[in-house]
Amino acid sequence: MTTPADGSAPPPVVIHDVAPGDREWAAHLMATSDPWITLGRNDASCRLVLHNPDAAIFVARIGTERAGFVLCHRRGVVGSPYLATIAVEPRWRSHGVGRELIAFVEDYFRPDARHLFLCVSSFNPRARALYERLGFTQVGELPEYFVAGASEILMHKRLRA
Ligand SMILES: CC(C)(COP(=O)(O)OP(=O)(O)OC[C@H]1O[C@@H](n2cnc3c(N)ncnc32)[C@H](O)[C@@H]1OP(=O)(O)O)[C@@H](O)C(=O)NCCC(=O)NCCS
Repeated sequence: MTTPADGSAPPPVVIHDVAPGDREWAAHLMATSDPWITLGRNDASCRLVLHNPDAAIFVARIGTERAGFVLCHRRGVVGSPYLATIAVEPRWRSHGVGRELIAFVEDYFRPDARHLFLCVSSFNPRARALYERLGFTQVGELPEYFVAGASEILMHKRLRA
């Protein structure tokens, strides 16, 4: 977290299970953010994603404010967890919230899983750079998967030996 201009300590990021109202907020954040705008998602399709009863959803709060969320499928890729969606409110981006959400997911799954997968769109190099800094490497590419001219890059991180 960056320090506010007045020098005071920022409130910590607190990550918890999805709570009432979080799904609607998260669906709206998703529908109004890239890459999902480019991928043609709308509010209705994002709500469906957020209401999948099998998804593990965690929300990051800063003080009383919802700052970001992450949604995972417990056995999404060859029996291993798959981080399907992560988004942070625009005003909180590049403050370390995404990194904390991913670290939380890694700790959450590590006792039962050796691998974690995610996908990133080829037109989202900043997100890809973050994942690479956190130890994910490309293991596959799905050309023209959602939209013409773009790939989904499958990335993997080993959680334990
Ligand atoms: C990608 C995202 C979840 C990262 O969360 P975050 O809290 O901003 O990340 P952190 O502060 O821990 O790390 C910052 C890094 O995130 C990435 N990032 C920041 N803003 C971003 C944006 N608008 N889009 C994509 N990646 C971004 C950059 O690599 C950044 O590093 P930099 O500031 O040195 O360029 C968040 O930026 C976001 O919601 N982006 C839009 C949605 C998105 O791209 N989701 C990922 C889909 S695969």
